[in-house]
Amino acid sequence: MKLISAKNQTEMSRKASSLIIETVRSAPEAVLGLATGSTPLGTYQELIRDHSENGTSYGKVTTINLDEYVGLDADDPNSFRHFMDNQLFEALDISEQQIHLPNGTAENLDAECERYDILIKQTGGIDLQLLGIGENGHIGFNEPGTPFSSRTHVVELTESTRKANARFFERPEDVPTHAITMGIDSILQSQKILLLAFGASKAEAIKRLVHGGVSEDFPASALKRHDDVTLIADEEALALV
Ligand code: PGA
Repeated sequence: MKLISAKNQTEMSRKASSLIIETVRSAPEAVLGLATGSTPLGTYQELIRDHSENGTSYGKVTTINLDEYVGLDADDPNSFRHFMDNQLFEALDISEQQIHLPNGTAENLDAECERYDILIKQTGGIDLQLLGIGENGHIGFNEPGTPFSSRTHVVELTESTRKANARFFERPEDVPTHAITMGIDSILQSQKILLLAFGASKAEAIKRLVHGGVSEDFPASALKRHDDVTLIADEEALALV
């Protein structure tokens, strides 16, 4: 794992966006794996700025998001699809057909998971997967204990994850109980992985990732089995490394 340190969240976001922009410029038909949450927000702002100032085009890019809540449709303000539209897609020259997230309102969720794995394969696979990390080491919604062999699947969210995500909802009880997430093996199939972390709340997880062993108790440790992972973290997240 390659480690790049950044002074703060702003610098982390600049460095992350540079890598993504480089990917898209050298391969205009790149398949980008994207994430939601607070971690990538600054990076998305930088992509938007670059798109408007330098004209980097997403006209041929395909995006595949990590996860979506079960029960929320694309128009729901709390859905990840809505988040992505607001934070990134609406500001880029990317069309509806190029954007992919799991369908959280599919009637048959197992069939939807299978469809998503097939879709990822049909795109030719993800060139660059952007990831955040949970305080408990989760990646996507793959909580501790998830088999490293997992593909896209439905998960019941842990109380701690529902609490951490409650800040995006009007009432804590509105946070859905289930989500569809790409599995750990689905993530590891990506050509390159870009993991981001900022802030003191991530310091323990980053310490365990860098210094700890590989175990299903700590999902992010699976990334040590991938040979092209870049971790960009700020000084606070790196404080215990
Ligand atoms: P965050 O979440 O980006 O909101 O910190 C990351 C995660 O839980 O995967």
